[in-house]
Amino acid sequence: LNCSEDFGPFHGKTWINCSHQGALPRVAAKAAQEAIAWKQAPHNLTAKRFTDVPARLRSALAKLLGAPTDEVALTNSASYGLHLLANGIPLREGDEVLLVHGDFPSVVLPWLGLEKRGITVRHLDSPLDPDELVRAMTPRSRVLCTTWVHSFTGVALNLDAVGAVCREHGVWFIVNGAQAVGARPIDVTSTPIDALVSVGFKWLCGPYGTGFCWMRPALRESLEVNQAYWLAMQTADDLGKEEALPTLRDDLGARAYDIFGTANFFNFMPWTASLEYLLAKGIDNIAAHDAALVDRLIEGLESRGYRVSSPKSGPERSTLILASHEDRSRNESIHRALREQNIEIAYRRGNLRFSPHLYNTTEDIDRALEALTKHRRNRSVS
Ligand SMILES: Cc1ncc(COP(=O)(O)O)c(C=O)c1O
Repeated sequence: LNCSEDFGPFHGKTWINCSHQGALPRVAAKAAQEAIAWKQAPHNLTAKRFTDVPARLRSALAKLLGAPTDEVALTNSASYGLHLLANGIPLREGDEVLLVHGDFPSVVLPWLGLEKRGITVRHLDSPLDPDELVRAMTPRSRVLCTTWVHSFTGVALNLDAVGAVCREHGVWFIVNGAQAVGARPIDVTSTPIDALVSVGFKWLCGPYGTGFCWMRPALRESLEVNQAYWLAMQTADDLGKEEALPTLRDDLGARAYDIFGTANFFNFMPWTASLEYLLAKGIDNIAAHDAALVDRLIEGLESRGYRVSSPKSGPERSTLILASHEDRSRNESIHRALREQNIEIAYRRGNLRFSPHLYNTTEDIDRALEALTKHRRNRSVS
């Protein structure tokens, strides 16, 4: 896979920080420019485009997930879908929601307010282990919500094993795929999960302010949410008709839960172009490309004496690599030193975090490793 020409310009920076922000492909930048041109001459903003733009996005997402289009809601974040589910799943006093210690705040916060209604929120140990999950389940457990790939440990959860436990106990399994979707393939129809939310701006290479929420129909149909967006129920063309009382539709599927302003041209046009680009490359091919970069990175880090704390092999390994200097207190200054040498990675919970994606090359990895070597040498001399 040779994609680096399809991205940038990076202005001399080596960007190995997709877990913070994925780069936008050139083809998506072009789509954004087209969206701006439409708004500059608003006759371009036809009712057909109001319908077609979200429809094309939904169909790209459905392809990505292996789901029917009517199971995908278009959102602006992972948080939107998590709030929809936390507010909409009919939970009663005494019911339990299971979360996991150390999870990303957006996975935890939407559930905490339910405690006011007498719902119990329990935090399980991390990393989540299927056997411990069995022991933690009680007859009042209703929901398990956690992340597929953990932002701060890089651990990829075994969705099949955890999902099987949830199924057996009649617990909805809600997964945040923000650090996984786009970097690893998924077929939601054959994976035992009930909902998958994600942002579009990381591994799906879209703009900030994009996301989706896939829900299994049984879960969606159980939701108790009052939402009736006029542009989901009708089109702008209907405004030309004689006045009539607007009516509710119940045939919309997940579309009923789209974010308002669904024909969000500036964001959804480039995001669609990014998704179509990734789909054309193939998520399997992208995952293989990323895995080769991760192999090279882990080997180079260890040979330079850095400790890699994220999984180094097997199905738990992800595209998020957490590493530390043997003297942990040096990590923050190493992060700063790399930035001064135009190598952009993240510093998270005391560790260095590397996250390469399809636009990165082996040269990018080598440049980062070279900078790490120099830094060690400089510091040990001084
Ligand atoms: C695991 C995870 N979930 C969610 C998010 C953010 O999503 P949102 O802002 O939509 O909640 C991030 C990163 O920003 C993340 O790492």
